[in-house]
Amino acid sequence: MNTPLAPPPALEPGPFGDGDLCLFIDSRRRRYLVRLQSGATFHTHAGTLAHDEVIGRFPGMTVTTSHGLSLLALRPRPKDYVLEMRRAAQVVYPKDYGAILGGAGVVPGMKVLEIGLGSGSLAIATLLAIGSSGRLVSIETRWDHAERGTANVAGYFGTSPDNHSVIVGDATRCLGGSATFDACLVDIAEPWRVLAVVHRLLRPGRYVACYSPSTTQVARTVEEMRRQYFGAIETVEVIERPWHIEGQSVRPQHRMVGHTGFVTVGAKLAL
Ligand SMILES: C[S@@+](CC[C@H](N)C(=O)[O-])C[C@H]1O[C@@H](n2cnc3c(N)ncnc32)[C@H](O)[C@@H]1O
Repeated sequence: MNTPLAPPPALEPGPFGDGDLCLFIDSRRRRYLVRLQSGATFHTHAGTLAHDEVIGRFPGMTVTTSHGLSLLALRPRPKDYVLEMRRAAQVVYPKDYGAILGGAGVVPGMKVLEIGLGSGSLAIATLLAIGSSGRLVSIETRWDHAERGTANVAGYFGTSPDNHSVIVGDATRCLGGSATFDACLVDIAEPWRVLAVVHRLLRPGRYVACYSPSTTQVARTVEEMRRQYFGAIETVEVIERPWHIEGQSVRPQHRMVGHTGFVTVGAKLAL
């Protein structure tokens, strides 16, 4: 039986501790992501704030800088963290997590293969989705990206999760053996190159989800999915339109993220 792990610091329900991440939001909705450190000071354009004024207190409180700036202190969600963290490669945008993880049918306890760890954004969301009883294996060709992605994952969870393994290598070559997976997530420039390997490693009826920014990539991926015996193929694009709600002014915001990526999923057919 799996023993449930303590929640990672990022999800801890109690008060902020030394070393935890804290997201400050001011009245103009400016956001500051800070790692709390006893004895340290946070500097803003409107004065300073001792980290010790936050450590030991609960998320959701408001603190005030030396020059009177009010800051709401929260624990960062993955969507707050990944947009601020250092990047090695283009990240999966948080609005697309649901389409990728839902499309691939990822639920707690699953063993998931990720091809293209990159900056670790999708790995963080996947680890949260599978929980401590699941396992994530991430493949990454580049050492520097593997290091950055691993550091970003550890930065979010406070430590490298025990149920996350990172393999440095090319997914078309380094995935021999007989391991099988419950779902596969692919975020590389040429997803069609790994679909034969993915087909071999996925359990029958389980899903692969590929994330691609351009329509030409999607067309080629779908063509190869059909050739490699994947069925129930679907492509979606998630469009998120934030709204401005202030008194009588209730309308879409003027700016939005116009395009990130398409999500193409397919289920392995049993032959
Ligand atoms: C767009 S990034 C992935 C971003 C990641 N999904 C995230 O959310 O931060 C693509 C990554 O795939 C890696 N990559 C490309 N081809 C690969 C292959 N054949 N096997 C493993 N990794 C590969 C690249 O080095 C790059 O770091």
